[in-house]
Amino acid sequence: MLHSKNKPCIIDFSKIGSPQLGYISVAEVQKNIPFEIQRVYWAYYTPDSVMRGFHAHHQLEQILIAVSGSITLECEMLNGEKYIFELTHPNEGVYMPAYCWHTMKYSHNSVQLCIANMTYDEADYIRDYSAFISFRE
Ligand code: TYD
Repeated sequence: MLHSKNKPCIIDFSKIGSPQLGYISVAEVQKNIPFEIQRVYWAYYTPDSVMRGFHAHHQLEQILIAVSGSITLECEMLNGEKYIFELTHPNEGVYMPAYCWHTMKYSHNSVQLCIANMTYDEADYIRDYSAFISFRE
């Protein structure tokens, strides 16, 4: 599977199963995850009045999946391109490259799973929007 590492994009995880039995979806390095996995984290019980994110990263690449509920993800790349993703199915995710400014809104029942290529490093965050756009060439 080919990914452009320059822009966010949907990853369609296959569904194994049936309506009668239920489903399994799989994230697997070198099959549908374009990096070595170093960290998995999840966010949950976010009130639907809250918007999270408001940052980008220098090196972090990650895949965000709404394994339950729904998440609206807005992304902006350094070239000014903007993307809006409505994640409503547990078999799809969004790949986010480095230097992707992003915000998320959640349904209260949502569980956001993130699969990342790095362990947590606060120094990798760009939390100031004007600092983010200063990286434009
Ligand atoms: P942050 O990434 O800013 O969350 P969001 O983008 O959802 O608003 O992280 C929120 C807090 O959690 C911040 O204090 C850092 C901490 N945190 C960790 O300690 N380890 C992690 O792996 C993550 C993702 C966050």
